[in-house]
Amino acid sequence: MLDPNEREQLYQGALLKKSGGLEFGEQLWQAIRAELGEQPRQPPEGDFLEPLTRLRQRLSQPHWRPLSRQFLSGLGLPVEEFFIDRFRLRGVAPGSHQIAAAAAAFYAHRDTWFANPQAQINLWMPLHDVSQLDSFGFYPQYFAQAVANDSDRFDYEQFVSQGGFQNPNSRLCQPHWLEPSRPAAQPVHLKFGQLLLFSAAHLHATLPNVSPHIRFSIDVRLVHRRDHDQGLGAPNLDNHSRGCVLADYTW
Ligand SMILES: [Fe+2]
Repeated sequence: MLDPNEREQLYQGALLKKSGGLEFGEQLWQAIRAELGEQPRQPPEGDFLEPLTRLRQRLSQPHWRPLSRQFLSGLGLPVEEFFIDRFRLRGVAPGSHQIAAAAAAFYAHRDTWFANPQAQINLWMPLHDVSQLDSFGFYPQYFAQAVANDSDRFDYEQFVSQGGFQNPNSRLCQPHWLEPSRPAAQPVHLKFGQLLLFSAAHLHATLPNVSPHIRFSIDVRLVHRRDHDQGLGAPNLDNHSRGCVLADYTW
């Protein structure tokens, strides 16, 4: 997986669907159940952010690093060729798009606006089947077209000093697409046991979860070391962020 040909396709905007990850998915479900109980997709009565944060901390423990790398190797990815970030578990509760404090989670954005390298490839894997009811979506028509955004306000060092992604209250700057009347995103449909690879330069957004259940997914950020050194990657049309996350991709 991710041979030079596939990487080139991704840098040009391809969305590549793959099969795999079931075993890792089951390991994650065990950890999720241990934290959230036997019906983890059932929305809780009270706050969801606090148990979700505890769960994320649990999944940041060092023993998850070899498991994550086994998962990637099992997909046929030569892990030694890549900078790899720790995987991020996402949990999107039904109706959370209507909560003002969660608004930033639904912003349309390119990950590159967060000082992610142009050569970055994102791997996104749902932990159950997802559809337009509870997925995320792309704006492929804007892959090769600049859009108005506030990435010039994003400085990675400043972001880290304020707690970064581990700080759910960090509202320092979450760069996003500044188009008030944007078109509908094209939803991603995947089964449990499938995953999607895409360039971090793709414009995308979490879709409102209008299903009755919590949506769980993981994503992993990958940067091919040699491609990055050689300046390969997706074209940079409108990314004005400062700094670079790569020194922190040590998972
Ligand atoms: Fe993103």
